[in-house]
Amino acid sequence: MSTASLNLDGKSYELPVIRGTEHETAVDITKLLGQSGAITMDPGFNSTGACQSSITFIDGDKGILRYRGYPIEQLAERSDFVETSWLLLYGQLPTAEQLKAFRGQLTYHSMIHEDMKKFFEGFPPNAHPMAILSAMVASLSTYYPGTEDDNSDVNIVRLIAKVRTIAAYAYKKSIGQPTIYPRNDLPYCANFLNMMFAVPAEEYKINSVLVKALNMLLILHADHEQNCSTSTVRIVASSRANIFASISAGICALWGPLHGGANQAVLEMLQMIHDDGDDYKKYVMKAKDKDSGFRLMGFGHRVYKNFDPRATILRKMTGQVLDELGISDPLLNIARNLEKIALEDDYFVSRKLYPNVDFYSGILYRAMGIPTNMFTVMFAIGRLPGWLSHWREQRDEETSRIYRPRQIYTGATERNYVPVEQRKSL
Ligand code: CMC
Repeated sequence: MSTASLNLDGKSYELPVIRGTEHETAVDITKLLGQSGAITMDPGFNSTGACQSSITFIDGDKGILRYRGYPIEQLAERSDFVETSWLLLYGQLPTAEQLKAFRGQLTYHSMIHEDMKKFFEGFPPNAHPMAILSAMVASLSTYYPGTEDDNSDVNIVRLIAKVRTIAAYAYKKSIGQPTIYPRNDLPYCANFLNMMFAVPAEEYKINSVLVKALNMLLILHADHEQNCSTSTVRIVASSRANIFASISAGICALWGPLHGGANQAVLEMLQMIHDDGDDYKKYVMKAKDKDSGFRLMGFGHRVYKNFDPRATILRKMTGQVLDELGISDPLLNIARNLEKIALEDDYFVSRKLYPNVDFYSGILYRAMGIPTNMFTVMFAIGRLPGWLSHWREQRDEETSRIYRPRQIYTGATERNYVPVEQRKSL
């Protein structure tokens, strides 16, 4: 076994080296604190691994993303979301029988308890659907409190099945329409579109172009190894919190504009540029000006430093879907122009800032009729099997311990308490 040496205060420490199946290298520092009294420091976890995982592989320099070894390009083109979810969860592509059974379970569990519908009535009309989603997912634990269910995977199925129903109900609530129940004759994505867009008074025709696009979008978002929300799920799960609480925490972590909330932020940015006379060059200048506080949303990634393979697929798909639907969207032109100019600009090139998955997904969601404030909810539906796979992986890990990072304290050293009447203002 190879080791790495660390010299600290005149002493040398031999640290074991761990290698992944794709030759990634980690220096194992788990015993460093006990041996040396020192910790390592890495705010933002740029160089820190928190676990070993066999779910997803990313090579950010080469723009590679694989789920369980399968390239994202192949899955996006040939798989569907339910099959990809199984793959992420169980490590292999399902047999025809396994897939049929899984689809059947997702259909069987798609309804939410009728009482839960009352919860939606309590939210204000303009409530953000991410707040509703996280609250409703946490609330599921009140209906399924048994830890035995966490051990049997039935709660995994319940979550994947019910999250689309909750999301669609949240949308219907926000526009004041009656909710539409899930239908047993419809597959996963078509069922979701029906719950979103059908109204009781008339027949809703499910468009196969939209179903294909939705499957692909959800596949592209399905996992991304140790990102902010997935790590949150693992952290919460490490305390043995129940599965619903862990996933609800992941949903909240996803919400931020630097993570899953970026897709909403991108569309709002494109709309702002459009309303401001389509002067995209002005906004590229603004993004380069650190004092402006403005970033080009949908650009940059902690891991991808060449290109985001998901963005490449989406860029192509967005054009195709808009053509097939006969939609001409001025925001797509702005996005393409922004991308072109930024990719030639030294500020973006030198910092390796490229369009990420969120840059084009919003335009596609918009073409599907999904409102902007639902974009991050769509991301959450897609990411759910990834979160659940990590939750499951952690549950089954014999050596898993509660997450408990350390810190370097920079506050006051010891001092004596002073009664309030003797305190002087600083
Ligand atoms: N526009 C302008 N400048 C940027 C941008 C941007 N979008 N992103 C990074 N920079 C600059 C940043 O100012 C810094 O410059 P300098 O070195 O001069 O200080 C440099 O590039 C490195 O940025 P960072 O913030 O240290 O990088 P990070 O790895 O901590 O952050 C990021 C990654 C994705 C949060 C960031 O690029 C960003 O804020 N992008 C916009 C939000 C976005 O699109 N988020 C979605 C990410 S993909 C979906 C997901 O997986 O969540």
